[in-house]
Amino acid sequence: MSTVSQVVRKAVFPVAGLGTRFLPATKASAKEMMPIVDKPLIQYAVEEAVAAGITDMIFITGRGKRAIEDHFDKAYELEAELAAKKKTDMLELVRGIVPKNVNCVFIRQNEALGLGHAVLCASHVVGDEPFAVLLADDLMDNGSGPSTVMKQMVEVYERERASVLAVQNVAREETKSYGIVSTTPWSPRTERINGMVEKPSPEEAPSTLAVVGRYILTPRIFHHLENTTPGRGGEIQLTDGIQSLLAEQPVFAYDFEGKRYDCGSKLGYLQATVDLGLRHPETAAEFTSYIKNHPVRK
Ligand code: UTP
Repeated sequence: MSTVSQVVRKAVFPVAGLGTRFLPATKASAKEMMPIVDKPLIQYAVEEAVAAGITDMIFITGRGKRAIEDHFDKAYELEAELAAKKKTDMLELVRGIVPKNVNCVFIRQNEALGLGHAVLCASHVVGDEPFAVLLADDLMDNGSGPSTVMKQMVEVYERERASVLAVQNVAREETKSYGIVSTTPWSPRTERINGMVEKPSPEEAPSTLAVVGRYILTPRIFHHLENTTPGRGGEIQLTDGIQSLLAEQPVFAYDFEGKRYDCGSKLGYLQATVDLGLRHPETAAEFTSYIKNHPVRK
């Protein structure tokens, strides 16, 4: 019997992208450290993974991303200061960012050669087991629902024992911004993928089902990524690797329960800030009243 774990316990966070859609904010700071209300995007993604039972967080970082490492590291001076001032709530908040059973690993992607290349950089740490990929700029909010999006996907993985991609329906004119899948129905909220194409024009798109920033992949993807030649923009596309994996293994599309905010875009970032600000215990009441009563100033 194989001793290889079939449990999803590792997650890869590719955070080496340049974040050009958010310049100049991302010139010297990491896009993933931009806060929604009071937490950086990357922390939302890590919390989602933790809630799905994942314990090993593998960050694929690049230049200008040091703040991400620092955020998940112990902050001696800050903790000492907070302890001295008896700010225990704040101290607990800072200490609780990484739960005790969680390990963080940082790998440097020397050149931004694409999302597929970033995932491949994690291969020796992931080894021969299934793993999650979370793109932190897609903020997944499950509102008051019982399961985070990644937890829902882990359940699909456990049922199907195959790769699972989060998908959502987009307007046809938006297909050129996404990987688009063609599918056949399988079970509620789950479809089996027949093919996948990166950023097709609305006329070429085989459907309007778009892949968003959550994946569970079998380790066989590494073999396919190694053999993937650079596609659009000289980058190794994860989509191309998955398209190749499809010839060998089933891959499923999962229509998740929850709302996705594209926080890599200015509009999505603003929408997330407003929606989460309206719910945050410290801002909900006053911000709701502000939004309702404040005349819009242009
Ligand atoms: P994006 O396509 O959103 O690119 O990458 P980006 O550079 O982050 O942002 P824009 O489009 O220029 O504004 C999707 C994800 O893949 C990661 C990014 O950090 C992001 O989470 N990525 C992309 C890498 O880690 N390495 C790469 O070489 C490319």
